[in-house]
Formats: sequence, structure tokens, C-alpha cells
Amino acid sequence: MRGSIRRFTGAVDFEARASMLRQQPLTLWLTGLSGSGKSTIAYELERHLVALGHPCYVLDGDNIRHGLTSDPGFRPEDRRENIRRVAHVAQLMNDAGLIVITSLISPMREDRAMARNIIGAERFFETYLSASVDTCAARDPKGLYVKAKAGIIPSFTGISAPYEHPEQPDLEIDTALLDEATSVSLIFNYLRTKSFGDLDGCGANRDRH
Ligand code: ADX
Repeated sequence: MRGSIRRFTGAVDFEARASMLRQQPLTLWLTGLSGSGKSTIAYELERHLVALGHPCYVLDGDNIRHGLTSDPGFRPEDRRENIRRVAHVAQLMNDAGLIVITSLISPMREDRAMARNIIGAERFFETYLSASVDTCAARDPKGLYVKAKAGIIPSFTGISAPYEHPEQPDLEIDTALLDEATSVSLIFNYLRTKSFGDLDGCGANRDRH
């Protein structure tokens, strides 16, 4: 309870929503450098899940920073606030029954631990897209590494700001070695075992298959 604000509990609980949607809601937390493939993989996973009738939603840093997190910048405390808000949204979406895929650099271990705490350790799956700085800078899909190296973008992760790799991620995918389709399929199979493996092909569209 915060001050005089009390929680109100509705009649529909987490289990009821999960069983209605025939999936265990969870958050797949993608972390990695800019250019490591987070957004590409997140949206491709979403496409697969929706095709199977599994309600899910991508919370992508670049998109969310246009609205809910348009005010924080890239100082450590700003990134923390960005991650805190997104984690709360993920938690709410999980509570509503959705599978959530987040796509945030989330460079600091402590901030990812905070996200795990907010979402709940049993529903939080940290997935590390482990392409190196050199690989991501060579890809430079948005031309940001060139600008960061020239000092035009300050505090750029991997160049002038730190990235702390996960020590024990739930899953690690080296996108320097694996192509997009292989990466997506490895993560999809992992996610399936955690969320709906025992109900395979039994999403909300199950009667239409
Ligand atoms: S996080 O560090 O707070 O998790 P987030 O994933 O939301 O970052 O946003 C990262 C995106 O913002 C990058 O993909 C890139 O397009 C853009 N960006 C702009 N400035 C920076 C910066 N200084 N460091 C990293 N990414 C930046």
C-alpha cells in the first residue's frame, strides 16, 4: 500500500486468464547491444506466436521511447527508469495473460535484476543476444556506431557507456554465428517449452487449425 492508496482485487485472477488463453504468460527479456538483433527477433517471434493463436506483445525500446518513456535519456538513471517502467508494463501484460517480448539494451545487471523482481522471477526469462561490439558496429543498421565513435552521440552503449553481459542468462543466442531464422527458431522452441509446450497448437486459434 502506498500512502492512502489501497489495492483492489478483481474476481478474475491470473490463473483464470492464463487458462482462458491456454498459455502461461511470461516475459522474454531480450538484452544485448544496439544492432544485436533484438527488435528483428522480437517481432519475428511475435509473428510466429500470433500465427499459432498465442496473444503476445513486443515492448521495444525504440518504440516505447516515443511515448511512455519519451522523457528518460541515456544516463544510467534514465536507463534505469526506462527499464523500470517497461518492466511494470510487462508485468501488467503478463497479468492480463499475454506473452511479452521486451527488446531493450538494458545494459546493467542491476537494472535487469530489478526487472526480474518487478515481473516475478518465475515469469522472467533473460535472453542474451551476444553479438560483440565489433560485430554490431560493423552492422551499424542505424548508423549510430559511426556517430558514437565520432562523439556525436554521447554515452553510447558499447562505445562510451558500459554493457554488462548477463552472467547466467536463461538463454544465450550468438547472433554473430546464427542467422535470423535459426535464432528465432531456437528462442521459439525455448519459449514454447516454458509457455505452452504441453498445449501445443492449442492457442486461441486452436479450433481454426
Ligand atoms: S536502454 O539502455 O534504456 O535499455 P533502449 O533499448 O530503451 O536502451 O534504447 C536503445 C535505442 O536507443 C538504441 O537501439 C538506439 O537506437 C537508441 N539510442 C540513442 N542513443 C543511445 C545511446 N546513447 N546508447 C544506446 N542507444 C541509444
